[in-house]
Amino acid sequence: MTECRESTLSLFQGIDYETLCCQAHPDFSPIGWHLGHIAYTESLWLLERSAGYPPQFPEYHRLFAADVLPKVDRVKLPPLEEIEAYLSNIRERVFDYLAIAPIEQQERLWRWLLQHESQHCETIAIVLAIKARQQAHTAYSAPRTPHSALHSPMIQILAGAFEMGNEAIAALDNERPIHRVDLETFWIDPYPVTCEQYHLFMQADGYQTAAYWSVKGWQWLQQHPVTQPFYWSDDAACDQHPVCGVSWFEAEAYANFVGKRLPTEAEWEKAAGWKSAAQLPLIFPWGNEAPSPLLCNHGHSIGQTTPVDAYPQGVSPFGCHDMIGNVWEWTRSWFNGYPDFASYPYRGYSQTYFDNQHQVLRGGSWATRSWALRNTFRNWYHPHVREIFAGFRCAQDPHQKLETIVQLHEAARESHSIA
Ligand code: AVJ
Ligand code: FE
Repeated sequence: MTECRESTLSLFQGIDYETLCCQAHPDFSPIGWHLGHIAYTESLWLLERSAGYPPQFPEYHRLFAADVLPKVDRVKLPPLEEIEAYLSNIRERVFDYLAIAPIEQQERLWRWLLQHESQHCETIAIVLAIKARQQAHTAYSAPRTPHSALHSPMIQILAGAFEMGNEAIAALDNERPIHRVDLETFWIDPYPVTCEQYHLFMQADGYQTAAYWSVKGWQWLQQHPVTQPFYWSDDAACDQHPVCGVSWFEAEAYANFVGKRLPTEAEWEKAAGWKSAAQLPLIFPWGNEAPSPLLCNHGHSIGQTTPVDAYPQGVSPFGCHDMIGNVWEWTRSWFNGYPDFASYPYRGYSQTYFDNQHQVLRGGSWATRSWALRNTFRNWYHPHVREIFAGFRCAQDPHQKLETIVQLHEAARESHSIA
């Protein structure tokens, strides 16, 4: 917890009051709100709900609870020193309580809090990245010279059952319970889609060609006219980095463009962690050893994306690279509860979002801390959100493999000339 908190506070070094309170985007709260909310949540669950102490700072309830103020009204915040004093005050009491708490009965809750803080810190990193984008001057850069696209064959994963989910003490409610899932044979890319690959979609007028987009995706694009990923860079040095900052709709359109599709989250999880020889799941693609800087790009240690083949030691038993860290990967699955789902620690953590309006993302990003990284971890966002550190990898059905991509391109060219 101390290690996690040190990283949290380091994000606020040199942050001025304006940045602390700035709502960089309507979908996100100011970073100062997230900081206060971290302490508020720790206080609520450990000091009030577990220890039974009365609320220590009742005035902060209105400001920092998740269900009181709408995001736009979270911009009038106390100065950073005051929020930091709130954090350290709560933390001191929490550690006093730890000395007497029945930790065997509460371990799941303490581990949930660690992941709660980690997730809010990734959101803080997102808000800072949005701000940095807004301040960066977007200079026109010449089209890059074509490179040899990373052309690795897809991996075939044969039909068969695997165990999905996680019941470890650190598992969140939405990862439980473990259940058997039967999958048909599918193919999956060994790497997330790179900037170089995505650039081909941009050059082929992908953003101007309705044929690649679903009806909802095209509607979204008309209302939010964009022509490149949110974190796009024209620097050729980024060619082998995963594309980062795409909405689910953009991921879907790219997959259509190449005659593929997004994987379901079950397919993703099987490709990441199922050891078919032993018929056992791994916690991480590389095994059960905790993430390290040699195994994946995570925990803000690099501060940005890395080439998709930079972590050969992190490969999964099926041969998939970069499943954990670097960028979150959109899947085609809506966020939903597994059979016999039970909320923990409260309904609004996961269950409120089982509304068929949120798509699941898997794998974690360069900003995700180790506590929130594992093959079974599920993240979720509305399909229009593109400011998160999200990319994707493609999958394919056996029959899709047989269809020629040429067909699709011809259809696209036709609809383009009609338009
Ligand atoms: C899982 C990242 C979508 O930040 O809204 C934090 C996690 N839930 N506090 C979010 C969460 C409650 C959640 N995400
Ligand atoms: Fe929260």
